[in-house]
Amino acid sequence: MTAPSKFDLERVPRHIAIIMDGNGRWAQRRNRPRLYGHKVGVETVQEIVECAREWGVKVLTLYAFSTENWKRPEEEVGGLMSLLKAYLLSELSKMLKNSIRLTCIGNIEKLPGDVRSVLQTTMAETAGNEGLVLNLALSYGGRLELIQAVKKIAARVQDNTLDIDDIDEELIADNLYTASLPYPEPDLLIRTGGEARLSNFLLWQASYAEICFTDIMWPEFRRDAFASAISDFQNRERRYGKTSAQIKSR
Ligand code: FPP
Repeated sequence: MTAPSKFDLERVPRHIAIIMDGNGRWAQRRNRPRLYGHKVGVETVQEIVECAREWGVKVLTLYAFSTENWKRPEEEVGGLMSLLKAYLLSELSKMLKNSIRLTCIGNIEKLPGDVRSVLQTTMAETAGNEGLVLNLALSYGGRLELIQAVKKIAARVQDNTLDIDDIDEELIADNLYTASLPYPEPDLLIRTGGEARLSNFLLWQASYAEICFTDIMWPEFRRDAFASAISDFQNRERRYGKTSAQIKSR
C-alpha cells in the first residue's frame, strides 16, 4: 500500500480514536439485518487497522461496545460478541506478524467468559509487540471510568495514603483505563454515521482532541475517508487555549 498524497506522513496523529457508528442503519437501508452491517463493519476494522499501522499511528482506539450497548436486543449483543471473538481469533497471526499490540479499556468483567478468555490470550500474546497499539473499548463508558477512578482516589484519601491537595490532573489520568497507553489522549477523534455527539466516549481524554464527524457509515469508512480525516486534522490549528500568534511563534 502506498502513502496517500492527501496528508503529510510526518505529522500523522499519534493517537486516533474512532466511534464506529452506522452499521445498523447501513444494513437496514439495504434490507439486511443489522448484524450484517456489523459483519461488514469488521471488514472496515481490518482495513482501518492496516492503514493506521502503515501510516505510523501509535495508538488506535476503537469504540467497539459501550456500557449502554448491553441494552440492545439479546440477539444483537450475542452477534457482536461472536464477531469480536472471531475477529480476535482470526487476526492474532496478523497482529504477531505486524507487531500490533492489543489492549482494551472498559469493564471487561462483564464480557462473556469465552470472549474474555480470547481477549486476554490475545493481549498476552501480543504484549511484547512494539508497533501499533490497537486499543479496543469494550463494555466501555466514560462516566463509569471516571466513577471507578474517583473511588480509587477516595479510598486512598480515606486510608490517609493520599492528601486531598495532591489530587491533580495527572493523578486522575493515572487512574483511568488509558493510563498505561503510550499516548493516553487522542489527538483526533472520528465519529462516523452522521451523528455529532461523544456518546460517553473518552470524556476526560478527549478534552483537547480534534473532532471529525462524518456522514459516512462505518461499513463504508475505508482508506480514502480515513486519509481525508487525517488531512482535515492536519489543516487545523491546535491552540490548547492559547492564541494563534503564540502557537506560531513557538
Ligand atoms: C455502532 O453502529 C456500532 C457498534 C455498536 C458496534 C461496532 C462493532 C463493530 C464494528 C464490529 C465488531 C468490532 C470489532 C473490533 C471486531 P450501530 O449499530 O449503532 O449503527 P446505527 O447507529 O446505524 O444503528
